[in-house]
Amino acid sequence: MESLIFDTHAHYDAEAFAEDCSDVLARLPEKGVCGIINNGTDLESSAVSIKLAETYDYIYAAAGIHPELAAAYRAEDVEKLRPLLAHPKTVALGEIGLDYHYEDACPREQQKEIFEAQLRLANELEMPVIIHDREAHGDTIDLLRKYRPKGTLHCFSGSVEMAREIIQLGLYIGLGGVITFKNARHSVEVAAEIPLDRLLLETDAPYMAPVPFRGKRCDSSMIVYVADRIAQIRGLTTSEVLAATRENARRLYKIS
Ligand code: NI
Repeated sequence: MESLIFDTHAHYDAEAFAEDCSDVLARLPEKGVCGIINNGTDLESSAVSIKLAETYDYIYAAAGIHPELAAAYRAEDVEKLRPLLAHPKTVALGEIGLDYHYEDACPREQQKEIFEAQLRLANELEMPVIIHDREAHGDTIDLLRKYRPKGTLHCFSGSVEMAREIIQLGLYIGLGGVITFKNARHSVEVAAEIPLDRLLLETDAPYMAPVPFRGKRCDSSMIVYVADRIAQIRGLTTSEVLAATRENARRLYKIS
């Protein structure tokens, strides 16, 4: 089988992989996985992402401070990302953004401060960003309009109208396991509507496993089920969806 799976969003440094991470990662290429971006969630996890990228040739790193963990940081700490972003296998600044579901973890104003500092840094370095937006669509769009970064909205959960605006801003849209869920009406509309050349596939592993593995630990090989569903929605073959999204990932993250 040709290796067509490019997973643009995973967390192999998560606790769920503590026991058997190297076993799981060693087996992914034989299951068709040709690329993974491991996303950092704070300084430490960004450094671990880079370690993974140094160990496995098909893994790339993103370095960034996640909104849920932003309470421990101030805007000036974002400077500490610079050496991590300079690593040859770091392809994006992520994952960053706003999360108003877990507002207790970090107040909105502080989340915005850290997010904006990271958007400025990404623009200065001309690097794409990987954006997390949970229940914060309005403020996220406002900041994207203001800073106009390159990059992707990961685990996109907005409406078709929002998707159109994201595309207009020049960004990509990441879809994952949610599209296989029964109540995924929004995602299905988005998957049908957005241009194929702006779509990225992702797992968010170990979270968000697609049906038929919903609720279980997710790994990058399960993207096939996401691609299957999108293929069905768009009247394409699964391989066509995988091949197109692989090319999109390589283009956005400048991976040859
Ligand atoms: Ni994530």
